[in-house]
Amino acid sequence: MTTHIVARLRAAGCVFAEDEARLILDTARTPAEVEAMVEQRAGGLPLEHVLGWAEFCGLRIQVDPGVFVPRHRSELLVAAARRRVRPGAVVVDLCCGTGAIGLAVVNGVDGVELHAADVDPAAVACARRNVEPVGGRAHLGDLDAALPPTLRGRVDVLVASPPYVPTTAIGLMPAEARVHEPRQALDGGADGLDLVRRLATAAPVWLRAGGVLVLELSEGQAAAAATAVEAAGLTAAVEHDDEGDATVVVGRSTADVQRGQPAASAAAAAEARDTAASTASSPVPQVPSSNSDA
Ligand SMILES: C[S@@+](CC[C@H](N)C(=O)[O-])C[C@H]1O[C@@H](n2cnc3c(N)ncnc32)[C@H](O)[C@@H]1O
Repeated sequence: MTTHIVARLRAAGCVFAEDEARLILDTARTPAEVEAMVEQRAGGLPLEHVLGWAEFCGLRIQVDPGVFVPRHRSELLVAAARRRVRPGAVVVDLCCGTGAIGLAVVNGVDGVELHAADVDPAAVACARRNVEPVGGRAHLGDLDAALPPTLRGRVDVLVASPPYVPTTAIGLMPAEARVHEPRQALDGGADGLDLVRRLATAAPVWLRAGGVLVLELSEGQAAAAATAVEAAGLTAAVEHDDEGDATVVVGRSTADVQRGQPAASAAAAAEARDTAASTASSPVPQVPSSNSDA
């Protein structure tokens, strides 16, 4: 059985055919499901959509058809955000997709208030199933318009992996992303930074003094994104991980005057110390992903 499945997957071009066969056999409940999954995978559906789940930061994330598959590259984003999360923090994951980023950021931290939001109803439905079991909430709407107004000025960490592929580069992406993930999950406009700029402009309203905006983008976009973050009144820093080919921009709010809040709290001071910490590489084992961090 296994040999036959591996041969079919390999013939279809699956590089990690043995691993994928094992995952399919572990996930399917009946021989008919095995057959259906092998058929879908051989037909080019991303492995995570076939299985219905993805491994991300050591967590099993539910992934619905048509919802963006979390990339291992985003583990840098998670690490950068996690260093700024304290027990009781308010964490927001905008452009959340499955909600994987927010879930991983708050995983194991006590008393965190987690909000995720996305413009795609399919993503929000999926995110709800992922974040509600840990007490999180998922909202539907355009960027921060989806958030409850009560969060204004209260957010400690606003994390986002928005669409950041330049429109003209979408055609160069692997078929698994291009064909099976929604265009609005990928397309960041002419230079890929349309959503990044909007997030930078929106963030100061939501962040508390000392709160941070943590954004994923590509290395070549970091300087322009940092400029946008500073133009919005935040201080900007760039973190990059060569090995994971991952880049994040961290914008920190120092605007305690704007909302009449007290100066940066002890947590913010701790965060400032942590900012100097070196970039963490992913500590979790990697399950081979069909979605090659496109
Ligand atoms: C690159 S995917 C990232 C998903 C998730 N953060 C992750 O890393 O797995 C971008 C997500 O942004 C969402 N999105 C695109 N435009 C949006 C908008 N204007 N407001 C909110 N979400 C948006 C898409 O629906 C998609 O789920």
